[in-house]
Amino acid sequence: MKYSGYAYVYTIGCQMNVYDSEKLALILSSYGFEKTDDLDKADIVVCNTCSIRHKAEEKAFSFLGRFAKIKKKKPHLITVMAGCVAQQEGKKAFERIPHLDIVLGTQAFSRFGKHIDAVKSGKLRVVDIEDSSMIYEAMPDSTCFDENKISRFVTIMQGCENFCTYCVVPYVRGRERSRDPEKIVEEITLLAESGVREVTLLGQNVNSYGQKEGRISFPQLLARINEIKGIHRIRFATSHPKDLSMDLIYAIRDLDKVCNHLHLPVQSGSNQVLKKMNRGYTREKYINRIYDLKKQCPDIALSTDMIVGFPSESKNDFYDTMNLLREIEFDSIFAFAYSNRSSAPAAKFPNQIDEKEKLDRLNQLLALQEQFTEKKNKDLVGKVLEVLVEGKSGKKRDGFEQIGKNLEQMTGRSESNKIVHFPSEHAKIGDRINIRIKDAYPHSLWGHPVGDCEYR
Ligand code: 5AD
Ligand code: SF4
Repeated sequence: MKYSGYAYVYTIGCQMNVYDSEKLALILSSYGFEKTDDLDKADIVVCNTCSIRHKAEEKAFSFLGRFAKIKKKKPHLITVMAGCVAQQEGKKAFERIPHLDIVLGTQAFSRFGKHIDAVKSGKLRVVDIEDSSMIYEAMPDSTCFDENKISRFVTIMQGCENFCTYCVVPYVRGRERSRDPEKIVEEITLLAESGVREVTLLGQNVNSYGQKEGRISFPQLLARINEIKGIHRIRFATSHPKDLSMDLIYAIRDLDKVCNHLHLPVQSGSNQVLKKMNRGYTREKYINRIYDLKKQCPDIALSTDMIVGFPSESKNDFYDTMNLLREIEFDSIFAFAYSNRSSAPAAKFPNQIDEKEKLDRLNQLLALQEQFTEKKNKDLVGKVLEVLVEGKSGKKRDGFEQIGKNLEQMTGRSESNKIVHFPSEHAKIGDRINIRIKDAYPHSLWGHPVGDCEYR
């Protein structure tokens, strides 16, 4: 059916949810709904949820909870809980949000339109959390092209079968399945034609892409995408350390568009914790993989995920994690306090760590990393980095106005994913410009275009 009205899509959580929300928006547009950023105008509200940590889950309930009052004044408003919390809660979601209309699990997107029709014709409380072996396919069209968005996410696979003991993903995203490479290439080609210059390929463990289905391997997929005209940069996340292959290392080294950056979540520096997490590698194995990688790609930028306060993590285990940070010197980290998820096995592990202690460890870890992030940035002063221009900087550097009348302060990212600000008269979104780095800050760099006069 076709309807008229406005749709508001609110996304919580990871990059995959950002991608999924774009697909939900495409469905809504094909049903006649126009996208809006104004919640007051909305006739349908979709909250695409995340359940990886307690806080994200609470955010979803509190966002959707507020529509109880609004729906009294606006009874035709449709509210939808989509994604991981929907998958996890199913019809239990109505206990906390009685006014909810649709609970749409992670694998139910292809039936979303049908559920909207059902609600429109008077059906109450639709729940769809059925599993599916397919990934919902919808090619981008003009409704989702935005010329200011030169970087986009593209999901290449979904689900996970690694069963790390702290993680809900295998339970809410289902078993691992990969998209057809032809569909991926078609989607990225369309994005490139619409002006996208950078894609980030998404999957819970990209190293195992295509293995189950007997498709091409992940390095082969990278080689295919490397050929797409208009795409300048390829990023990907996430790699699992236990499966990082030499072929992937060679692909990073040899394929010109694949960025010189790897996100390789380590989670902990302690062997006893890694074992309890079911990560499938030891601290030594992880360090060796990094060594193999650096031998082939000496300047590679590295980032990681860390969890502190996993059940039974002792002070010494935590110091092992701190020491791993010192040993590897990551460019950046994402660190989290362990969050107990009732559907993941670690929820029942003994010796859960006190919340205050977890936060204290998290702060210590972040403070230590701050030093390395700053040091890595300082090491770049004097070097030339290729920057993909993303737009004008939100906040201008002090004294910027004095350096030249016709200049704009622009911003972009280096291959290593560092934010670089620079003055320019001509730079446009999507351009690649060589910037000589002049100053380093904790979270960004400042430089000027090589060949231009020296602005200061
Ligand atoms: N508690 C804290 N962090 C978690 N992550 C996954 N599950 C949990 C949890 N229960 C983190 C991991 C993962 C990242 C996406 O989220 O570090 O790599
Ligand atoms: Fe979760 Fe582990 Fe799978 Fe990553 S690899 S999604 S942490 S179970």
